[in-house]
Amino acid sequence: MNSTRLALVVVALVATSIGIGIWVGKRAQPAPAALRPAAVALEPDAAGPAMPDYLRAIWNPLHFRPAIETARDEQCLACHREVLEDRVLAKSPAGLEAARVQAWYQELATYAGDQETFHRRHLVTPFAQRVMSLRCNTCHEGHNPREEAPIPPTSGDAGFTLRKQVDPAKSCLKCHGQMDWKLMGLPAPWAESKATFAGSCLTCHAGIRTNRHKVNYLKTEAIEAAGQENSDSCFGCHGGRPWYRIAYPYPRHAWEGMGPEVPDWAKGRPTESEPRFLVGAAAAKP
Ligand code: HEC
Ligand code: HEC
Ligand code: HEC
Ligand code: HEC
Ligand code: HEC
Repeated sequence: MNSTRLALVVVALVATSIGIGIWVGKRAQPAPAALRPAAVALEPDAAGPAMPDYLRAIWNPLHFRPAIETARDEQCLACHREVLEDRVLAKSPAGLEAARVQAWYQELATYAGDQETFHRRHLVTPFAQRVMSLRCNTCHEGHNPREEAPIPPTSGDAGFTLRKQVDPAKSCLKCHGQMDWKLMGLPAPWAESKATFAGSCLTCHAGIRTNRHKVNYLKTEAIEAAGQENSDSCFGCHGGRPWYRIAYPYPRHAWEGMGPEVPDWAKGRPTESEPRFLVGAAAAKP
């Protein structure tokens, strides 16, 4: 090892121990009582010119558990107004007009209004507000940057490129999985078989699995009303906009008139919604 390399190694070691020191110091601090602004001071470090330390710059107790579990949307929006305020461009840089472009998943009867950003489609569009009441922490559960996935084949910190802010299997899949028409006993996928069932999910679901949607991010009654007007309201969250090839394994709540035996596919399924989403009497149960 020549002396330049040795010097570099020493610098790296010193930098690492400073980093650990800062991290330990930060962990040792008592949890701040109120919000505090993210630290943004950019100090020059030993290795070169001033560089922002990303993880330090964005450190805020609200990004992590437990504070994120009880965070109110206003608290997040105090710093992240852009999430709801930014709108899509009226025209792409290549000249495509947003108003004249429509994707396959925008062809349901419930799709309305201008093109919108992802966050606005889930939080502020009229249909979203009618049937759901998602909050920031419904999807954002607080990631831990120390548990990020490295990019194979290396096992080192590869720049956090695979870092996820949201666990899709516990969020998106619930409303964007496939419709499991075979399990329901339909002869063919919904598009082909809906006419046989008077075009409505409620032909069957007025009596089957009626104990549904009692979670704090869905509007239980409003969903039933919307489903009576148009089955696309139901289908939209149960196969009409699928980003997956699989269906979500929904909890199977007991309902009035339910038969005594549990079908094979339902063995091992939960019979209650996830505890963090329970509302009313169900939430009060131990
Ligand atoms: C005091 C200000 C502040 C508050 C409050 C705050 N954040 Fe942040 N957040 C930041 C900053 C600064 C960044 C880094 C932004 C950047 O890199 O452009 C960030 C980044 C993020 C990111 C992207 C992280 C990444 O590594 O790419 C997400 C997601 C996020 N915040 C969600 C939330 C949520 C959800 C809440 C509420 C529970 C919240 N934030 C509250 C300041 C805040
Ligand atoms: C329907 C689920 C969902 C809800 C609700 C949601 N987010 Fe996100 N958010 C996401 C996803 C998915 C990403 C991209 C995550 C990734 O890249 O890993 C994201 C990204 C972000 C980012 C990173 C910057 C960006 O725009 O890509 C911020 C900041 C953020 N969300 C803040 C919020 C805040 C504040 C709220 C509440 C007002 C909120 N989110 C509500 C799913 C959601
Ligand atoms: C609780 C149900 C629910 C969850 C969870 C959910 N979505 Fe959605 N999503 C919807 C609904 C409803 C719409 C249509 C809203 C409308 O028509 O205004 C939609 C629309 C979309 C669209 C279309 C946007 C557009 O402009 O057409 C995308 C993309 C999308 N969701 C992605 C995701 C991703 C990614 C996640 C997980 C981070 C997610 N969704 C979680 C219910 C959900
Ligand atoms: C022919 C009658 C019938 C029609 C029409 C029908 N379903 Fe079903 N559905 C069923 C049956 C039967 C089950 C399974 C009941 C059980 O748990 O034993 C089921 C289960 C479900 C489940 C839970 C699946 C799971 O994995 O636990 C969802 C969600 C669902 N249906 C949504 C819909 C939607 C949305 C529509 C309309 C687009 C629809 N169904 C149309 C009969 C039907
Ligand atoms: C905004 C999205 C959304 C809409 C609209 C929607 N669902 Fe659901 N549905 C869900 C989610 C999310 C769950 C799982 C909730 C949970 O974890 O308990 C669910 C669960 C179900 C279940 C399983 C019930 C059980 O045993 O827990 C059935 C059946 C069902 N939905 C049928 C329907 C029908 C019929 C309609 C129309 C009247 C409809 N859904 C509209 C999102 C939606």
